[in-house]
Amino acid sequence: MLVIANWKMNMSGKEIGAYLDRLGREDRWARWASSGFRLVLCPPFVYLEALRSECRKRALPFDVMAQNMSSWEKGAYTGEVSVNMLTDLGVDGVLLGHSERRRYFGETDQTVAQKVLLALSRNLVPVVCFGENEEDRRGGSSSRVWDAQVRPVWEVVMKARQAGYASPVYWAYEPVWAIGTGKTAPLVEIREVGGYLRDNFGVSCASGLLYGGSVTDESVSVLQDGALHGFLVGSAFLDPRCVIRTFDQLCAGS
Ligand code: PGA
Repeated sequence: MLVIANWKMNMSGKEIGAYLDRLGREDRWARWASSGFRLVLCPPFVYLEALRSECRKRALPFDVMAQNMSSWEKGAYTGEVSVNMLTDLGVDGVLLGHSERRRYFGETDQTVAQKVLLALSRNLVPVVCFGENEEDRRGGSSSRVWDAQVRPVWEVVMKARQAGYASPVYWAYEPVWAIGTGKTAPLVEIREVGGYLRDNFGVSCASGLLYGGSVTDESVSVLQDGALHGFLVGSAFLDPRCVIRTFDQLCAGS
């Protein structure tokens, strides 16, 4: 199970130090990791390298992933960070297609698919976010939205597999109406998403389904379900105590 902390555009170098200090006072990380519960930290780009080396130095068994990357390989794209730059840093994977990227930075389903192909071609693990907004849900068009977002990515995943790129792909179902709102999707709807992925793209695809949207140490035990392989957590995981309480809950329930 992957439990991902998406810090978004939060934290300073000093705060990251204090965060790791707090996590480091917990002595069950190695045990949790060996039972299959992995914490993944996603800091802003500028902290990726320092965070990775700090985790190693402190013997904290955490993975480090980026929150985004460019859809271009290289060139005159001011301000962008390429896939090769991420592999250079040795990051474990990358979040792609987060709804905030789609909403504020105009990312389309096609751009997300391009990024996924690039990530797979460099053996980076993509965590592909998708999900409907409130209006889609009310209008009964959720599955149409999932399909528009997932299908183009699925096509490039197939292409990458044919070319021999075997990195796992995780699908993060993140309904937009649940992100940062305190409302979590009901388990029955999350299972429906698992069913949708299984029916349309085969079991292997659903073997990497994560849920994100207002997950906290309190909601996580209700959400823990056989259909899910992990969680993507935003605001709650800015507090390291909440990370520890969440692992406590998850590992007790396993
Ligand atoms: P949230 O964010 O946990 O604050 O709802 C989740 C996400 O955006 O990945």
